[in-house]
Amino acid sequence: MNGLAGKRIVVTGGTSGIGAATAQRLRDEGCDVAILARRPGEGVIQCDVGDRAQVEAAFEEIGDLDALIANAGTSYRSPALEISEEHWREVLATNLDGAFWCAQAAARRMLQGRGGTILFTASTNALVGYRYYADYNATKAGLVALTKSLALEWAPKVRVNAVCPGYVLTPMQEAEYTQAMLDQVNARIPMGRHATPEELAGLFAYLASEEAAYFTGSTIVMDGGETAGSIVSGPGGPGA
Ligand SMILES: NC(=O)c1ccc[n+]([C@@H]2O[C@H](COP(=O)([O-])OP(=O)(O)OC[C@H]3O[C@@H](n4cnc5c(N)ncnc54)[C@H](O)[C@@H]3O)[C@@H](O)[C@H]2O)c1
Repeated sequence: MNGLAGKRIVVTGGTSGIGAATAQRLRDEGCDVAILARRPGEGVIQCDVGDRAQVEAAFEEIGDLDALIANAGTSYRSPALEISEEHWREVLATNLDGAFWCAQAAARRMLQGRGGTILFTASTNALVGYRYYADYNATKAGLVALTKSLALEWAPKVRVNAVCPGYVLTPMQEAEYTQAMLDQVNARIPMGRHATPEELAGLFAYLASEEAAYFTGSTIVMDGGETAGSIVSGPGGPGA
């Protein structure tokens, strides 16, 4: 990917799933990758992204950076009437507060220095309704709104974009869905399957590269056609 080699890139939640695949892809492209995660590990700076003081300390340690991939996220499958205050606060703190604290800390350095790019992992849950994820969906819609506002404030030095994956087969997904539920979902996706974390990693690498220099304020959907249609699209094909 053009203009990626040598870049200093921070990936939050980079120890698992989409984040781990993205960190690996960026390393393969010659980037210097720092991972922010709660669990310890090689090349990991331990940090709960929902804790602003921990985020500030982590970015102090990192210093200058070229790109942030604010990817850490969490979810619970729960009917809206049963969402507890504890889970509501945790989901908002990680997915929305955490992404914003990281973006703020990154942009401060980028705006004073050589510029950079920020990518949020949102979701198709930001774009259409999904039952049993009301708290999660609100955070992802928040990231799409945040993307547009920050892109306006920080252009032209810092580009800000949101990626909306559809269903991706990761530990998060496997923890919440049985095989029967996965099969049911796959039957309704035009591409007939979940995305792989590596497919998302390729998109993140492109958006972080110089090849994507004119993208800012955008919401990029990679969902195998999941949200392309609606009831007015008519019967026929998968899930008909
Ligand atoms: N898997 C999907 O189908 C899917 C679809 C759309 C969007 N997403 C989003 O993609 C991102 C990655 O999800 P994934 O599927 O790879 O899940 P995952 O559970 O495999 O990875 C999530 C990562 O975030 C980290 N994390 C969670 N809370 C954190 C916190 N407070 N501080 C620091 N790190 C924290 C976890 O430790 C883990 O490394 C999430 O934002 C998720 O909402 C996933």
